[in-house]
Amino acid sequence: TPVAAVIPAAGRGVRLGPGAPKALRTLNGTPMLIHAVRAMAASRAVSLVVVVAPPDGAAEVKSLLDAHALPERTDFLVVPGGESRQESVRLGLAALPPGHDIVLVHDAARPLVPVDTVDAVIEAVRDGAGAVVPALPLADTVKQVEPAAAPGGAEPVVATPDRSLLRAVQTPQGFDRATLERAHRTVTDDVTDDASMVEQLGERVVAVPGHEEAFKVTRPLDLVLAEAVLARRRL
Ligand code: C5P
Repeated sequence: TPVAAVIPAAGRGVRLGPGAPKALRTLNGTPMLIHAVRAMAASRAVSLVVVVAPPDGAAEVKSLLDAHALPERTDFLVVPGGESRQESVRLGLAALPPGHDIVLVHDAARPLVPVDTVDAVIEAVRDGAGAVVPALPLADTVKQVEPAAAPGGAEPVVATPDRSLLRAVQTPQGFDRATLERAHRTVTDDVTDDASMVEQLGERVVAVPGHEEAFKVTRPLDLVLAEAVLARRRL
């Protein structure tokens, strides 16, 4: 089954500080988005990558892809994104031609995911899951709180979930295409990942081991870490 990857890259990246849209920031001289595109195209199973660009930035993203070396055996499409990550993914899905029955959804903000993780996700979809998430155990204990009355105020703690049962979830998340399309037609709640929409359908969702290098570049310190990982890879 040919696999397509949808890369939502339409976010502004406010938490990273002022500047260009996050996906267009560079890591060791190369835009984060290009790293993410290469990470998907590195899997031999992936024959199409759809990049969801900032709504007013599709032409810029298209020329960016043209300016960088990418594998010959992979096709690339650029479509304009939307207001929310969910809408951006939906617009990416709508651009998929028939025939790609497995779809990966991968954050542009996770530029360094290793190909073995991508392939493990695809394999688990082939094994019959409706959705597959790469996931890691948590280093920190997690508390559930009551939101503070004022920003920065003390927050009453209400619960401590058993850490051994919690996972931090990464991307690419892998899907049976028909299941993901149905989820995007049916689920209208605000969600922070695509797999949770498939969970709401009652379909089987499984977690496979993620990778620490698949971390999300969110805050300024993450840029330092990402550049260090890249420098180490070149050794
Ligand atoms: O904001 P967050 O880090 O959760 O964004 C995850 C991914 O979703 C990023 O790659 C971002 O570019 C993308 N996104 C998008 N469209 C939006 C908001 C976020 O494609 N409207």
